[in-house]
Amino acid sequence: MSDSWLPIAYLFAAVLFILGIRNLASPRTAPLGNGMAAVGMAIAVVATLLARDVVSYTVVLAGIVVGAAIGTVLALRIQMTAMPQMVALLNGFGGGASALVASAELLRYVREGESPTELVSVAIVLGALIGGLTFTGSLVAFAKLQEMMRGAPITYPLQRTSNAVFGLASLGLGVAVAVDPTALDAYAGLVALSLALGVLLVIPIGGADMPVVISLLNSYSGLAACATGFVLGNSGLVISGSLVGAAGIILTKLMCDAMNRPLTNVLFGAFGKVTAGVGAAVEGRAVKAYTAEDAGVILSSARSAIVVPGYGLAVAQAQHATRQLGDLLEKRGCKVQYAIHPVAGRMPGHMNVLLAEADVSYDKLVEMEQINPQFPETDVVLVLGANDVVNPAARSDPGSPIYGMPILDVDRARQVMVIKRSLNPGFAGIDNPLFYLDNTMMVFGDAKETVLKIIEALKTL
Ligand code: TAP
Repeated sequence: MSDSWLPIAYLFAAVLFILGIRNLASPRTAPLGNGMAAVGMAIAVVATLLARDVVSYTVVLAGIVVGAAIGTVLALRIQMTAMPQMVALLNGFGGGASALVASAELLRYVREGESPTELVSVAIVLGALIGGLTFTGSLVAFAKLQEMMRGAPITYPLQRTSNAVFGLASLGLGVAVAVDPTALDAYAGLVALSLALGVLLVIPIGGADMPVVISLLNSYSGLAACATGFVLGNSGLVISGSLVGAAGIILTKLMCDAMNRPLTNVLFGAFGKVTAGVGAAVEGRAVKAYTAEDAGVILSSARSAIVVPGYGLAVAQAQHATRQLGDLLEKRGCKVQYAIHPVAGRMPGHMNVLLAEADVSYDKLVEMEQINPQFPETDVVLVLGANDVVNPAARSDPGSPIYGMPILDVDRARQVMVIKRSLNPGFAGIDNPLFYLDNTMMVFGDAKETVLKIIEALKTL
């Protein structure tokens, strides 16, 4: 039987991927979108397995068993807060796999004395270059986020110049291989340089910018897969790789826009490098510390409240307690909404996912642009483990590293309650003038424990 049905199966899978992504755009339809994309992937995998090109089902089966076992254990054990490094690792494996497939195909051509077409030669070079770079770059991103290496930017003199030289050298070797695919020495040099480039390009990027880099590496892993699709003549891989490539780059752009920083600044700005005097609470300024019971008293008479979740809510796993508090306030006649900043937390949609986990109704989640005008009319804003995304210095201090980043204007509310454990800075490593304002009260403590205490206090009032 010929494999003429294969492109149709891939096309069908691709349509499901696209519809899946479309449905992922809204929390309400996201589970359906996820399911559609999964069915699409199942169709693509089964179709590939039924194709005549499969050399050994034993090897494929062994790969599936080992991969599924590792994937299941990881998925069950991974903490929500460790999701970015998990994604980094998955991107890295995707890039590495693409580089390996491109290399295997090149070696096969050389061994069988065949010459690949120009398109395939270029695709092999791109698969190896982008795939190799994605592999090591993602491993560095993983190591930084997992705190296995220093998370702050690592910089040294002439860094950009030396990186540019490495980049140009790898391009030169790439052209040599594309022109003469039997030049295996040049190919080995290309792979070595691409692996080195991955490390060199990611080490100068700082902790707070890692989510953007991971999204960019995600895009690269898609582009590498797309190139490999051309190498293998597999339209399914070309389509799914381009979808990942495009989605990753769009997400990267959205994150940069949400931080009001160009991508070049994220990649080369060494943002978050520790500078003297930044990060610690400024001396001579005092904050007003209150207890959870005080917070309960103030909330008991509030008619409107906005909860602003941030990374600390995820760390404390306070989403269920927060929902309980919201329900209690609503029962007392207070209007409760949740303000969602596009880069709150450590990954896109982090806060939406957490609040959805606690069954907070979607219509109470309000995006930054819509909620900002409401702060001045709001009685109490409850900032739960958020810091950078509510830092007014982004609006008022041109010297601040986050100047220009759109923020939630919580400081304009009548009363702001900030729940966090200390005056320690957030991911950007900078002080937050919000904590020192007259209308701000600090309630120090773990977000979950404090919210539970506020609930107890409220119940007695
Ligand atoms: P952050 O500014 O990182 O602040 C989180 C705060 O949570 C910390 O100041 C910490 O203060 C507090 N915290 C930690 N554990 C806590 C606990 N158990 N209970 C209560 N509080 C706790 O968070 P954010 O406001 O969500 O901002 C996100 C940052 O990540 C921004 O800088 C953003 O640019 C960056 N970023 C995010 C993304 C995405 S996609 N989300 C992408 C790129 C960059 P204490 O230690 O004092 O408790």
